[in-house]
Amino acid sequence: MITRMPLFLLFLILKQYYCVQADSECLKLDISITQKVEHEGFHREIRWLIETTSPPSDIWVASACKLSLQLKVSPGIYVYPDEVAELNRTRKLLLHIDGHVDVEAPAHEATEHTVYIYLNNSNIGRISIVLPMHLRYQRGQITGGYGKVPLRKPSLLSWCPDSLDRICGKGVKVEAPCDETATRVCVWKNLTYQAHFDEVELFVPVGDLDDYPLVSIVTLLLGCAGCIYILSVLSMTHI
Ligand SMILES: *[C@@H]1O[C@H](CO)[C@@H](O)[C@H](O)[C@H]1NC(C)=O
Ligand SMILES: *[C@@H]1O[C@H](CO)[C@@H](O)[C@H](O)[C@H]1NC(C)=O
Ligand SMILES: *[C@@H]1O[C@H](CO)[C@@H](O)[C@H](O)[C@H]1NC(C)=O
Repeated sequence: MITRMPLFLLFLILKQYYCVQADSECLKLDISITQKVEHEGFHREIRWLIETTSPPSDIWVASACKLSLQLKVSPGIYVYPDEVAELNRTRKLLLHIDGHVDVEAPAHEATEHTVYIYLNNSNIGRISIVLPMHLRYQRGQITGGYGKVPLRKPSLLSWCPDSLDRICGKGVKVEAPCDETATRVCVWKNLTYQAHFDEVELFVPVGDLDDYPLVSIVTLLLGCAGCIYILSVLSMTHI
C-alpha cells in the first residue's frame, strides 16, 4: 500500500502536466465575419469577408486543419448549380451543394438546400468570398408589394486531422462532406465566430394580381397602336 503511493502521486502529476500541456497547445481561433448583400431584385451576391487574427497563417497551415462555411439556404432563395460549378471548376470557389435545387420552382413549392464552401488555408488571415444567388418568385398576392426572405447566418466548421480538440473551445459536432468532391463525410466542429452583421431579410417583388388585367390591356393597346402605325407607314410608302 505504502509503496504504491508514490507511483499514484507520480501518475497524478503526469496526468495534470499532460492535460495542461494539451490545453495550452490547442489552437485558439479568433475569426470574424462581415457579410454584405449586393444588388437589388432577383439576382444577388453575398459577400463574406473572413478575417483571422489568431493563429498566424504558418501555424494554421502546419496544423493541416480545414475550415468551411455551411449555409442553409431558405426555400425563397437558391444557389444556381451551373453558375457555381463554373466557379468551382476554375477553383475560385470550392463548394458542394447538398440537396436538389429546382431552379424553376416558386418559393412556396421549393425545398431547402445546403451549401458548403471550403476555405483556402493559405489565405486564412483574410479570405473574401462572393457567392451568387437568386431569389425565387413569390406567390402573387392581391396586395402586391414585396415578400420577405430570411438569409440565415452561415455556420463556421473546422476539421483537424489528429483531433477535433486541436482547436480550443467547445463546439457541437456536425457531420458534413470532407471536401468539395463530397466523396467522404467528416465530423466537423461548429465554431463560434464574431459576426459583424445581423441576420437579414431580403425583399422580393411580388407579382401584383390586381394590376394584372390593366397591364395586359395597356400592353395589348400599345401593341395594336404599333401595328396600325407600321401598316399606315407601309401603305403611305406604297401610294
Ligand atoms: C490557395 O491560395 C494560394 C495563394 O493565394 C494559391 O496559390 C492556391 O492555389 C490556392 N488553393 C486553392 C485550392 O485554390
Ligand atoms: C466541384 O468540383 C468537384 C471536383 O473537383 C466536384 O466533385 C464537385 O461536384 C463540384 N461541385 C459543384 C457544386 O459543382
Ligand atoms: C453552429 O452554432 C451556431 C451558434 O451556436 C448555430 O446557430 C448553428 O445552427 C450551428 N450550426 C450547426 C450546423 O450545427
